[in-house]
Amino acid sequence: MENILITGGAGFIGSHVVRLFVKKYPNKNIINLDALTYAGNLENLKDIEGEKNYTFEKADICELEHINFLFKKYAIDSVIHLAAESHVDRSIKDPLAFARTNVMGTLNLLQAAKDNWGDDFTNKLFYHISTDEVYGSLDDKGFFTENSPYDPHSPYSASKASSDHFVRSFYDTYQLPVIISNCSNNYGSYQFPEKLIPLFINNICNKKQLPVYGNGENVRDWLFVEDHARAIDIIFHNGNIGDTYNIGGFNEWKNIDLIKVLIKTVDKVLGNPVGTSDKLINFVKDRKGHDYRYAIDSTKLKEELGWEPSLQFEEGIEKTVKWYLENQDWVKNVTSGDYQNYYKEMYENK
Ligand code: NAD
Ligand code: DAU
Repeated sequence: MENILITGGAGFIGSHVVRLFVKKYPNKNIINLDALTYAGNLENLKDIEGEKNYTFEKADICELEHINFLFKKYAIDSVIHLAAESHVDRSIKDPLAFARTNVMGTLNLLQAAKDNWGDDFTNKLFYHISTDEVYGSLDDKGFFTENSPYDPHSPYSASKASSDHFVRSFYDTYQLPVIISNCSNNYGSYQFPEKLIPLFINNICNKKQLPVYGNGENVRDWLFVEDHARAIDIIFHNGNIGDTYNIGGFNEWKNIDLIKVLIKTVDKVLGNPVGTSDKLINFVKDRKGHDYRYAIDSTKLKEELGWEPSLQFEEGIEKTVKWYLENQDWVKNVTSGDYQNYYKEMYENK
């Protein structure tokens, strides 16, 4: 049986990828390696616990000896690497943590793959999951393509850019079989409520202010997380070794317009009169180095591998809002403890 190591599988996107692979490929062993940081949560995978082809290993990608041990223990054939520090605001406060996990952790995994796979890379693959933020910021025109130059601005995107470069360097230097994909903003179930959409859904439900950075005119391209997981499946199985694939929804929204859709949807689902939560909008100091616009051109993925987003945005948002409202225990669990300190520091002790 093929043994696939998925890192960061207890996080937001990783949990969707692990679930998809475990259910769709009963004849492949899925090993989920995750350090269970504040962002990792095994509750995200409760429904697949106990499946025969699924194993969880608590491990830190920064600990090379442990990673080497796990490569041998499971005779790993391929890696889908999602483990990362992923939140831009946290990277502004603590850049070193991002260099450690995103740069050194990725390099450790590459080294472990190279050392354990020896000279024979037959049926081996190191698939690295990255972000559109490595390309920098756009003005009102144009899209990021696979050939856009790298121009990261935040410590988060700089660390992801660096990890992408290391992945390519292992292909160029050692011919390690790699693929990279760079995706736009994801939304959906199990996203930690520090990111815009789950944070604002939770705040609307609790009648708390909605901290809109700057003038709210920044633009992001939003993709339903299950569509990203599907793209990862297609690229993992059919992508060209050495290639990069951009993944995006052709679904751009100004933050303020997206926030209005969110408010309308939450009020509708809660049965509130139209406009009830509009007053919660609160423009606050801008994020430092806030990128203006991200927009991904995913034509290559569509034309070469036939992937397209499956869901209309309003439908995806309604599904997402309903999920958070129906899973209040999950929300309470992840917003207790340290989250309260984070929230106070970010939004209240200003
Ligand atoms: P997340 O923060 O929800 O999850 C990250 C996971 O990695 C967590 O389970 C955490 O415990 C684990 N992790 C962190 N440090 C680790 C370490 N040192 N060792 C082992 N595990 C560790 O992140 P996400 O939003 O699911 O993003 C997953 C990947 O996709 C990241 O690489 C991110 O850069 C990329 N990405 C995210 C988005 C997005 O919109 N969220 C878009 C494009 C790309
Ligand atoms: O583009 C892909 C990236 O998308 C991923 O690589 C990152 O891991 C992911 O976190 C996301 O980064 P963003 O910074 O775009 O996402 P975030 O949800 O933090 O913010 C989305 C937009 O909303 C951004 O313009 C900042 C703004 N914002 C965010 C928060 C948390 C606010 O106005 N207020 C907020 O409180």
